[in-house]
Order: sequence, then structure tokens, then C-alpha cells
Amino acid sequence: MLGHIGFIMDGNGRWATARDLPRTEGYKEGLNALKRVLNECAVHGIKVVSVYAFSTENNGRPSQEIEAIFKVVTEFNRSYDGDMKILYMGDIDSLPDYVAESVYFIEQKTAQNSGLTLNIALNYGARADIVRACKLAFDHADFTDSAIESRLASASLPPLDAVVRTGGEKRLSNFMLYESAYSELIFLDKLWPDMTENDVDAIVNEFESRIRKFGR
Ligand code: IPE
Ligand code: IPE
Ligand code: MG
Repeated sequence: MLGHIGFIMDGNGRWATARDLPRTEGYKEGLNALKRVLNECAVHGIKVVSVYAFSTENNGRPSQEIEAIFKVVTEFNRSYDGDMKILYMGDIDSLPDYVAESVYFIEQKTAQNSGLTLNIALNYGARADIVRACKLAFDHADFTDSAIESRLASASLPPLDAVVRTGGEKRLSNFMLYESAYSELIFLDKLWPDMTENDVDAIVNEFESRIRKFGR
């Protein structure tokens, strides 16, 4: 049963460029794709969806592009009115105030919601998260797997069953590295803004066809 799925939402810029649009248009369309994907995940009974929205490495992009991504995220946070529970992971405090405020606003507003949990990785890097968790565990002189795991940003979430990357690249790009140790990996050539409900159905079928062995 697919309980927690992660999406590396790649290919937004290429989607826009292919249409002679500025790359920034790809991020707006990416949000529409996310809404389709989330609706279909809920139909399949998936409880938690983690999405990679902005990596710490993405800070190296042109400022205009970074601002466009932050604007899409902020507008979503300010306007969302559904029943999902929305969480963020990443270095939120280092983001511009208007973005960070919108993050805290929506986390608080949706905290008691009973729908699907949407966990958004924003200004996130898995290595930094693992280092931070290790330092906390070290402070408590606790060096076990569970001590580290319980201090990751994803600690409150169920195990990550699958990671899907769109856009044709076959890498994790610093997304949930610890959590994905036994995740099923699914790579799609499709660009993120082209994702439909049918793609989610195919992902669920693919996941169910995999035999998970966990080393046994
Ligand atoms: C991924 O889309 C989303 C973010 C980095 C925010 P890209 O912007 O990397 O799109 P491509 O890979 O260049 O097409
Ligand atoms: C990963 O995509 C980050 C997000 C989807 C937010 P990138 O486009 O930044 O990854 P690389 O540079 O191709 O590895
Ligand atoms: Mg990319």
C-alpha cells in the first residue's frame, strides 16, 4: 500500500521554454499540475505527499527565477482553503519574510485538517537535514538509527514508500536521502507541468507491481 510518496517536480523550466514562454511560466503551470496530482493521490488513498519545490542548491539560480518560484509558493499559501494538512521542511527562516510568513500562516491554518498531508520541501537539502539531525542526536549521546531518524525534518511522517522524479533526469538531487533508503524509485520522462491524473494512476500501478524485499 502506497502511504507516502515523494515527487521531485522537475522539468518546469523546459516545459515553458518549449512553448517560447519565460521559464517563470513553468512554475505557475507546475502548481496546476501539483493540484491534479494531489487530487488523484487522495483518490488512491495516499496519506502523505512530499514534494520538492526548491532546493538549497536552487539558490544559485538567477534572482528573477527564484522570486518567481517564491511568488507561486506564497500565493498558494495565502489562498489555500482546502482540507489538506500542509507542512514545510527546509530552512524556512532564511527565506524572505513574506515567504516565511506565508509558510507559518498556512501551517497553522491547516494544522487540524483531516485530509491528505502535503509536505513541501522548500529551501531544503537532505544532507543538511541529516547533519542537523546527527548533531541533535550527538548532543544526547544517542548514536542509533532511530535517534537520527526521529530528528529528521520528516520525523512525524510515515516511511517514504516511493520517490517519483519527472523531467527525465535519473537522480535524487539531495531530496530525502535518508528516508529514501528503501523507497521505490520511479523516473518519468514527462515534464512536471504535463502531469495528469492518469500519470498518478500509472505510478500507483507501477508501485504495486514492485516486489519490496527490504534485504530479506
Ligand atoms: C524544477 O524545475 C523545480 C525547481 C527547481 C523549482 P526546473 O526549474 O529545474 O525545470 P528544468 O529542469 O530546468 O526544466
Ligand atoms: C531538483 O531539481 C530540485 C527541485 C525539483 C526543486 P533541479 O533541476 O534543481 O536538479 P538538478 O540540478 O537537475 O540536479
Ligand atoms: Mg531541473
